[in-house]
Amino acid sequence: MLKDNVLKKLNEQIQLEHYSANLYLAMSSWCKVNGLDGSARFLYAHSAEEMMHMHKLFNYINETGSMALVSSIDAPQTEFKDLRNVFEKTFEHEKLVSARINDLVELAFAEKDFSSFNFLQWYVAEQHEEEALFLGILDRMDVIGFDGRGLYMVDKEIGKLSTVASQGPA
Ligand code: FEO
Repeated sequence: MLKDNVLKKLNEQIQLEHYSANLYLAMSSWCKVNGLDGSARFLYAHSAEEMMHMHKLFNYINETGSMALVSSIDAPQTEFKDLRNVFEKTFEHEKLVSARINDLVELAFAEKDFSSFNFLQWYVAEQHEEEALFLGILDRMDVIGFDGRGLYMVDKEIGKLSTVASQGPA
């Protein structure tokens, strides 16, 4: 069984990962209706990854004999200024997720909950990858630029990064 304070924070993380999935799905929809099919596909696939992050926490909590909670989550933003704005927000959001994971790791260690501490290492590594991924997209935008066919090229490049492209919208 998990200590109450660790359990509370793990359940809050479930909520945040679920919110992340919905945020990226909302962004995917915005991209799709604005003709940015590559980005729509990438964000749709990334939303599925966030659900996997959520389920991993859910299963871990239940395996310890504690109760994983499915709580209400706020509706995500649905309007964005432009494509760069979408990805600036993904990067900011991932930095927030990393900060929450770090807090959780610190708490697990302080509580001598080494099982949770060990479990959370996967998220530490994952957050490093996610921040690098989204920062890389912003860098790519800066290199290609948005002049002329720039937006088309940027969107195409982002589409290529999609891990499960075949599951995304056409
Ligand atoms: Fe599950 Fe992108 O953080």
